[in-house]
Amino acid sequence: MMLQLKNITLSFSGGRGTFKILDSLNLCVERGKITALVGGNGTGKTTLFNIISGFQKDCSGEIVFNDKKINTLSPSGIARQGIGRLFQGKSLLPDLTLLENMKLHASTLTEFKTPKGLRDETPFAYLFRSKRQREIENTKEARAIEVLNNLFGNENKYLEMLHTLGSDFSYGEQRLLSLAGLFMGSYSLLLLDEPTAGVNPVYIEQIRRIIRQMAGEGKTILLIEHNMQFVRDIADKVVYLDNGKIQFEGTATEVLNNQEVKNSYLGVESITN
Ligand SMILES: Nc1ncnc2c1ncn2[C@@H]1O[C@H](COP(=O)(O)OP(=O)(O)O)[C@@H](O)[C@H]1O
Ligand SMILES: [Mg+2]
Repeated sequence: MMLQLKNITLSFSGGRGTFKILDSLNLCVERGKITALVGGNGTGKTTLFNIISGFQKDCSGEIVFNDKKINTLSPSGIARQGIGRLFQGKSLLPDLTLLENMKLHASTLTEFKTPKGLRDETPFAYLFRSKRQREIENTKEARAIEVLNNLFGNENKYLEMLHTLGSDFSYGEQRLLSLAGLFMGSYSLLLLDEPTAGVNPVYIEQIRRIIRQMAGEGKTILLIEHNMQFVRDIADKVVYLDNGKIQFEGTATEVLNNQEVKNSYLGVESITN
């Protein structure tokens, strides 16, 4: 098993007391598969991603990734273990350029770390480091260009937009380009939070293609998604979150045809989608 969540419990306290959002949740994510996490708004799906990726620390239970307990690692420590994430909403950092956004993921690769011997503060080490640092930045840029070429073809317009700020891209482009950025890291598990939400059909098609490519490269994918057509199309397995727990899991057909899922979730979704 690639990722195991054991007995995850998390409560938020607010003005009206304490609210248990996740309640002894258990989930196993199988290596090499696309698993869709579905459930109503506010059921704790993004919160669960925050827990896995180290942003939400005050839960109880165990998070085990590749047989290693990762509860106490920082978000960047967890990224270096091989877990990448697409954030919900406008997903490029607005004040960084496209290239800078993409380079962020490359920092998870050991090949881009400053070599140990160059860390001493001698004048010569300083000179070598700046040269080495330049080489590293150039390699990262070459890699970003290669990723964009692979995904969007050799003459894609994003090559001309490497120095455009994240905030200047449309919402749909931000989703696409954030997914592209994930190819820069050495991730083996990708957490994708609503990749298609609010995105027009042309981009949804491209997002489907990109996620299939990720899976084709052997990456394990856990995605939160409300577009049930997309889920049926792409997911090997579906898990349904409600009342703080995974209530059902199975194939898309099994879970989405389940009467309880239909009553409490899909009834609402069919109106909103
Ligand atoms: N830091 C927080 N403090 C208090 N409540 C929170 C916090 N983060 C999320 N919540 C609440 O937890 C619930 C689950 O949120 P979320 O995980 O974003 O839901 P989903 O992604 O399933 O729509 C929501 O009711 C939300 O308001
Ligand atoms: Mg969410």
